[in-house]
Amino acid sequence: MRIAIIGGTGVYDPGMLEMREQRVETPYGEITVKVGLYKGEEVVFMNRHGEGHSLPPHRVNYRANIWALKVLGVERVIATAAVGSTNPDYKPGEFVIVHDFLDFTKTRVYTFFEGGETGVVHTDFTQPYCPELRGILLKTAKDLGIKAHDGGVYACTEGPRFETPAEIRMIRQLGGDVVGMTAVPEVILAHEAGLCYSTIAMVTNMAAGISDAPLTHEEVLEVMDRNGRNLRELIFQAIPRIPLERGCRCSHTPGRLDIGTAGKKDA
Ligand code: HPA
Repeated sequence: MRIAIIGGTGVYDPGMLEMREQRVETPYGEITVKVGLYKGEEVVFMNRHGEGHSLPPHRVNYRANIWALKVLGVERVIATAAVGSTNPDYKPGEFVIVHDFLDFTKTRVYTFFEGGETGVVHTDFTQPYCPELRGILLKTAKDLGIKAHDGGVYACTEGPRFETPAEIRMIRQLGGDVVGMTAVPEVILAHEAGLCYSTIAMVTNMAAGISDAPLTHEEVLEVMDRNGRNLRELIFQAIPRIPLERGCRCSHTPGRLDIGTAGKKDA
């Protein structure tokens, strides 16, 4: 199982064949993933927000999720994320293959490196999102005629409330293109763990204050639903294009964690 999909808001059914559930023990709690077959390859599907979207962004067990993927042997991760846009060029219904992030979260656990056994470690974050996976996703989108922007800075807020107009003006001034609530610490932990990690951000709305209309979760879900087919198509057409050998430097990021297979457990 070398490839995993982390499904965010609105992405709950990966539509793979012969899906089965698998439980994985981690030092941070037990995680249940689905494993399915796509073109003969086993692909892991993880629901970021848990069964029935029960976990808000600040309560997601990010460390358990990423550890579980490592235990399963995953090397490449394609994550999805619903986002608001602070960039007038990025419109609702369009995809952004993000390349960097800004962190405005406040209460989360951000690292596997807590001192003690793992030591004091400062991981390189010059390339937080895997350039190889980003390239594959962009090329696949182009071939499919799906609009996907090459690069964008994902500003992650704490939530679960949406932002104020003043916060959105600040984020825009600081270089944020899209805003969501889940990139941090997921991308950080994945990078610390030496995984190739990419995010397909789907713009569901212009961010707060850009239009007068209030934001609702229903609006976000509605746009995700309307574009869900394109998102699935993009992911599944990209998967067979991912080479066996990794051509990036994600697996040898300076300061990464070597998570063994201890704790592996079958369903
Ligand atoms: N802000 C934060 N998270 C989001 C948004 C937003 O505007 N839209 C979808 N997820």
